[in-house]
Amino acid sequence: MIGPKVYETVADMRQAVDAARAAGERVALVPTMGALHEGHLSLVRAAREHAGHVIVSIFVNPTQFAPTEDFDAYPRDSEADLKLLAGLGVEGVFMPPATEIYPPGFATVVSVGGPAEGLESATRPHFFGGVATVVTKLLLAALPDVAIFGEKDYQQLCVIRRFVRDLDIPVEILGGPTVREEDGLAMSSRNRYLGTEARRTAALVPQVLNEAIERIDAGEEASTVLAEGTARLTQGGFAVDYLELRDAETLAPVDAQSARARVLVAAKLGQTRLIDNMSLARPANGWR
Ligand code: PAF
Repeated sequence: MIGPKVYETVADMRQAVDAARAAGERVALVPTMGALHEGHLSLVRAAREHAGHVIVSIFVNPTQFAPTEDFDAYPRDSEADLKLLAGLGVEGVFMPPATEIYPPGFATVVSVGGPAEGLESATRPHFFGGVATVVTKLLLAALPDVAIFGEKDYQQLCVIRRFVRDLDIPVEILGGPTVREEDGLAMSSRNRYLGTEARRTAALVPQVLNEAIERIDAGEEASTVLAEGTARLTQGGFAVDYLELRDAETLAPVDAQSARARVLVAAKLGQTRLIDNMSLARPANGWR
């Protein structure tokens, strides 16, 4: 199996992108922080449907972690990641050292309002500045036709769509559906932190979400449903940051059933913070 080319510098990646374009290929970028799982791989497969040349970036971005968060503990396994990507026939992997992205004297932050307000920002005020800055850099470095992000991090996807539109970055942004374990738990690199007992308990998150959207969809009062869902999670041992119904595009609070609405949740189980969301729009099958 021939592995993907690995680029550590923007210049090397751009050269490869230029060559692909000159050969008439479209280029797709899938930004990740590595520790790849089936959720990431589904994004890579989706990227392939849109482009003949697929690049995956792997960079654990320090600026989206607060000093108290898990930057050092965040799982890193580039050998396993590269094997998985080779199996999918990815052309290139961008794995820059931190100094390539943040050279000495780096002093810029991309600051986003609108969909970045509330939810994640209430407990992680640093987060979207870090994400927007690194994603802007990755998009400008790779200059892809299309970039794909998971709907699992739904607020992040809305924030990226917003600043890409606001800054006229000429890249089409696509969202890929959340991939779930058999019991409904959304796949996440951080699920590796869960012990056996916590892993079992974690399935309560998609259960509460699913029940909430079913009940709101059936016309029950959203505030009651969400309060009961929060209580169930708390009884199950979670510290709930939020369980809220929001407009699917602007993320403004909404209080009634609408095909445009989503329920979003963030809750901590021990030291592991889980986030997830589901849409009130009817799915083709399974979880929404
Ligand atoms: O979702 C992620 O893995 C990260 O937030 C991203 C988009 C790669 C930026 O570091």
